[in-house]
Amino acid sequence: MRTHYCGELTSAQVEETVTFCGWVHRRRDHGGVIFLDVRDREGLVQVVFDPDVEDVFNTADRVRSEYVVRITGRVRPRPEGTVNPNMRTGEIEVLGKEIEVLSASQTPAFPLDNYSPVGEDVRLKYRYLDLRRTEMQEKLILRSKITSSVRKHLEAQGFLDIETPILTRATPEGARDYLVPSRTHAGEFFALPQSPQLFKQLLMVSGFDRYYQIAKCFRDEDLRADRQPEFTQIDMEASFVNEEDIMGMTETMIRGIFKDTLGVEFGEFQHMPFSEAMEKYGSDKPDLRIPLELVSVDDLMGEVEFKVFSGPAKDDDGRVATLLLPKGSELTRKQIDDYTKFVGIYGAKGLAYIKVNDKSDLENGLQSPIVKFLPVEVRQALLERLDANDGDLIFFGADKANIVNDALGALRCKLGADLDLYTQEWAPLWVVDFPMFEKTKEGHLTALHHPFTAPSCSPEALKAAPEKALSRAYDMVLNGVELGGGSIRIHDPAMQQTVFEVLNIDEAEQQEKFGFLLDALKFGAPPHGGLAFGLDRLVMLITGAESIREVIAFPKTQTAACVMTDAPGEVAPEQLRDLHIRVRKPVTEEK
Ligand code: AMO
Ligand code: AMP
Repeated sequence: MRTHYCGELTSAQVEETVTFCGWVHRRRDHGGVIFLDVRDREGLVQVVFDPDVEDVFNTADRVRSEYVVRITGRVRPRPEGTVNPNMRTGEIEVLGKEIEVLSASQTPAFPLDNYSPVGEDVRLKYRYLDLRRTEMQEKLILRSKITSSVRKHLEAQGFLDIETPILTRATPEGARDYLVPSRTHAGEFFALPQSPQLFKQLLMVSGFDRYYQIAKCFRDEDLRADRQPEFTQIDMEASFVNEEDIMGMTETMIRGIFKDTLGVEFGEFQHMPFSEAMEKYGSDKPDLRIPLELVSVDDLMGEVEFKVFSGPAKDDDGRVATLLLPKGSELTRKQIDDYTKFVGIYGAKGLAYIKVNDKSDLENGLQSPIVKFLPVEVRQALLERLDANDGDLIFFGADKANIVNDALGALRCKLGADLDLYTQEWAPLWVVDFPMFEKTKEGHLTALHHPFTAPSCSPEALKAAPEKALSRAYDMVLNGVELGGGSIRIHDPAMQQTVFEVLNIDEAEQQEKFGFLLDALKFGAPPHGGLAFGLDRLVMLITGAESIREVIAFPKTQTAACVMTDAPGEVAPEQLRDLHIRVRKPVTEEK
């Protein structure tokens, strides 16, 4: 139907007769001459219709925004003074000779020819229109380049693309499962995979040695800007490897992708133990673009009069930490109040601070609601430890360690963003030496990653002190986003059993849930390990998008629904009967 894309016409085609198809982006009537900007995925081209051929002119006059047209015309240089250097096609225009309307369009729900703020619900309801916008086209085109680059780099390293089932059993990754009722097995359900974890381990037992998949995963969890109920992983697993091998291979891939897509070269990634990440950044995914660090001061605060500090300082699970903001004493009262509210989201009960006006005057040079509670020696030691200077601001967090870490960790990122403290554009790193387990609110242990992660100690040591055990897991973090995570797996049935015991999963439950994996480990399982990246998060970072919804063609809303197809939806009673299901709607309270 066409000889060229609209967006690829340049001076190279001058004097040629060309045919192209696309959407009418904009129509202008310049006193007897009609200008159409016609758009396709490659860009825009300007077409001019003179009134000399009446029926062609009349058709051009009648088209409206978003009509689909096919145009034949002659490419000519734009008249002097009308060249547009910002457009690829900006040096030329097409003198229209023929125009055919392939499809008419109603007035779109929002204009596509100029930016106007539109609610996300409207954008998602008319996603097919939203996706016509250049920014959205660019993001999805870049996404396609990224997946192509992923395949290239993994295939170059000998990884095989193997598909794993979608209708399966629950894989524990910590979220709720999406369930699918079985028609042929009354009362039984498939679970959609939270990840291909168990299948990829089984593929290693089968001897495929290196596997990858660009895999859809499903998790029914609370949604945020970087989470979707249905998302895509770059999932991989390899045999006869240790953690350095996996980190090396995947780092090579990520470096290759950034080079291919953005032309950015990363150096070697830093490796940071989990404990250091929590101590200095209050987070297991530190954003190292921001040059602020948390510093513990428990030892200084144990004996002070201020109970808010001395309590947590003496509590084994407590922490008193500071965050020094250079030149921060310029912050207004209102800004500090806002930051105090902000840390409240993370459970902090307050945000004490000291403005260092004159560090040589420990009596009157420190401005703060709490300094009166701190003896002069403590003030002195504090300023020395933090290397504080006049004009700096010191924030304090005091509470259970996890609250202080969450609150000051988040404050650190917020200050970085609000005050544009970034020192570099990209800050990748590996976080390593994670604990095997963490305590739930109810006080029992759960796997920090998943229960197939190998500990870095013997089964005996693991049993003796599970809270102290570290795992052979690693996370790749980029600009404060957890891009991917993985581990060396347990390939020894006895070790796997021990981990289940520590997790209080009894024999019957083990057999019921993971019997097939435990069996497979008895038939010659190679040492193996792997990792999965969140593809959507990777694309979000590379495109600079604010949310992963911006880089998914048809995402779900914050309430895990699709407003375009109106899914989830009710189904016919016959269908439910076939599935042996009776629905009990939640009882809504009478108003
Ligand atoms: P994990 O649960 O850490 O590991 O997931 C791997 C990566 O997937 C991305 N991710 C998500 N992206 C969007 N929306 C979500 N709801 C979501 N959940 C996770 C993150 C995360 O780093 N089987 C293991 C991997 C392994 O051990 O090999 C796993 O799934 O970027
Ligand atoms: P209060 O004694 O509650 O009025 O608090 C005095 C100062 O300490 C105020 O600036 C509070 O914001 C701050 N503060 C209170 N609780 C905490 C806490 N848990 N961590 C850090 N600062 C706090």
